[in-house]
Amino acid sequence: MERLRGKTVLVGVTGSIAAYKAAELVRWLVKCGAGVQVIMTRAAQQFLTPLTLQALSGRPVLTDLFDLGLESEIGHIHAARSVDLVLVAPATANTLAKMACGIADNYLTTVLLAVEAPVVVCPAMNHKMYTHPATQDNLAALRRRGVWIVEPASGPLACGEEGHGRLADLSLILETVCRALTPQTLRGKRVLVSAGPTWEPFDPVRFITNPSSGKMGFALAVEAARRGAHVDLVSGPTALPDPPGLITHHVTTARDMEHVVRMLAHEAHLVIMAAAVSDYRPEEAAPHKFKKDDADLEIRLVRNPDILAGLGKDKKPGQILVGFAAETQDLVRNATEKLHRKNLDLIVANDLTQPGAGFRTDTNVVKVLDRGGGVEEWPCLSKEAIARRLLDRIEALGTT
Ligand code: CTP
Repeated sequence: MERLRGKTVLVGVTGSIAAYKAAELVRWLVKCGAGVQVIMTRAAQQFLTPLTLQALSGRPVLTDLFDLGLESEIGHIHAARSVDLVLVAPATANTLAKMACGIADNYLTTVLLAVEAPVVVCPAMNHKMYTHPATQDNLAALRRRGVWIVEPASGPLACGEEGHGRLADLSLILETVCRALTPQTLRGKRVLVSAGPTWEPFDPVRFITNPSSGKMGFALAVEAARRGAHVDLVSGPTALPDPPGLITHHVTTARDMEHVVRMLAHEAHLVIMAAAVSDYRPEEAAPHKFKKDDADLEIRLVRNPDILAGLGKDKKPGQILVGFAAETQDLVRNATEKLHRKNLDLIVANDLTQPGAGFRTDTNVVKVLDRGGGVEEWPCLSKEAIARRLLDRIEALGTT
């Protein structure tokens, strides 16, 4: 999560049993390179000691507005001004109510009134308290004011009951923090991204595939969602978990992928085909496991549909189509040919022979080609950084 590097996040911890999870959250934020300043309410300190969060954040924890030492050293107005984001996790019904009414009776609620940075709140409480109209009205008021709400999860609660009220997964909280720190330049847009390999079976347990990990396509889908787009990710089989906050459609073969992509592409403003689609499939897939004998085995392969070329043919006015080209020779010439043949706006070409490029790596070395013959050569970058830069380049085309 490179987006968090160098950011200052103020973490407000309030008095829910889920306060213990704030320790893990602070540790993750620090690990991602954020500076973390913790504020704990009095109730939060009944569940977790300030010492724990001080050790994990490496900074004194703010607890008391009238602590002469800390207040003169840091100061609540300074704390409010110097942060990039405030994260209240867990947020109790009581703190949400105070926030909705503008009450400032402790360090956290006072800072929240003075802060101009984005605010993310993560409610955690008993499900009856959560669904109570008072809490729901307070959340609606906060949402109207632009506060980001991370919905609690369902499941067994600390009180012994079941329901909606558990603190959301840390991965969803961190992703929402990243979103709140990202300008919402794709809000209202629909983005379709394909990722990963396809599997082309010749019996129920064997198939033809390639080493695509899906990392590039997943990074693109996550970045587009961070920018506020509605994102559909169509993924072949990968080992990656579904990214939080977007819709992942799982497919296996190129023909499955074509079916889902064609259905979703209809409404998409932007389609990025990062999947490594198998160009061929075995002509027949045996219904049972193939048994060997002494003879050699020949498998006849037939062409799969070219999904992207099909989209290029039926391209809607204003729609942007972006493809990838994995090459081992004549990179620019081959990629340019694909750009025009498939009717694309941009193509991202990577030379699989270069160190740090291509399948399975966390980095890539790419050239980005446009229809006017422009070729941008990017240095070796993380796939997350390439995703950011590519979406900037796409936004600069002007039609998204
Ligand atoms: N692609 C696709 N359907 C296919 C093959 C590729 O939609 N059956 C898409 C890929 O997702 C990628 C682009 O087309 O965005 C280029 O894929 P690539 O395999 O590099 O090129 P091909 O056109 O298949 O040409 P070749 O395999 O001959 O290099």
